[in-house]
Amino acid sequence: MLKAGHVPVFLFRNFQLNKVPMAKLNIFTTVYECLMTQELDAKVQKLQALQELWSEDAFEFTPTAEIHRVPDAGRPELPILVSPKDLPKRRLGSKEGQVALMHSIAHIEFNAVNLALDAIYRFQTMPRAYYQDWLGVAGEESYHFQMVREHLYHLGAEYGDLTAHNGLWLTTYETDHDPLVRMALVPRTLEARGLDVTPPMLQKLRAIGDKRGVEILKILLRDEIGHVEVGTRWFRYLCAERGLNPFNTFKEILENYYHGDLRGPFNIEARIAAGFCEDEIAWLTSIESQSAKAVAANKANA
Ligand SMILES: [Fe+2]
Ligand SMILES: [Fe+2]
Repeated sequence: MLKAGHVPVFLFRNFQLNKVPMAKLNIFTTVYECLMTQELDAKVQKLQALQELWSEDAFEFTPTAEIHRVPDAGRPELPILVSPKDLPKRRLGSKEGQVALMHSIAHIEFNAVNLALDAIYRFQTMPRAYYQDWLGVAGEESYHFQMVREHLYHLGAEYGDLTAHNGLWLTTYETDHDPLVRMALVPRTLEARGLDVTPPMLQKLRAIGDKRGVEILKILLRDEIGHVEVGTRWFRYLCAERGLNPFNTFKEILENYYHGDLRGPFNIEARIAAGFCEDEIAWLTSIESQSAKAVAANKANA
């Protein structure tokens, strides 16, 4: 029952919307705040709010006066970050190994939220569809993170219990000067690597009877094809804008910036679905056969 003089909140909202148009929020400062948020649940909630605001057309896109470099994006105090060579190696066959695998996936997914947010914040003169795409990716990464975190919890662990490495964020940081380089190296190289390694992980999880783990990884694989495809689309867009040949440019960027070893086996089917062109697939296939020959030669010499 309404008291006399009480204005229901919904009427107040309507009044505000009709009479005084709400000032739009700046997309870049709002995304930056979410990017720098350290606490896990707060980051997830802020991201949900961002998506709702997007659907309400509540953002304006004026570039900010300054774009901060982000050597360390918002993340909780744990996990402790170590060099990749210092990560303990555990066999998947053991419970410890199962937990370690899920923990490393949770870490990738958490970082992937930050890298999608950074792709929005940092490159402030892209078309609006670019921001929509990356906000969609951020939402899916957050969903992945929560699923994996929950599964980890059922296995008796929490995200942060084990150590992790910072490779994904370092590449994100090192590519903060150019969206073309970012699209080539982060979605099209690092996330694309996820497409290659997921099928063997699925096999291992099936072998140990981790049904929920299998379900989660299948969702991740499906969605990650979409993320790599987003990277491909905007990589091609930027190549076209600059009059560059996409295939040669991709190879040049990998040669100049990629610290890792590009070797197979590649998930060719998933990479085609993610927009890799015929020339790229032929090139990857030749790398794959060269690395297979090198492995065979090493075995023969051992
Ligand atoms: Fe993901
Ligand atoms: Fe992703």
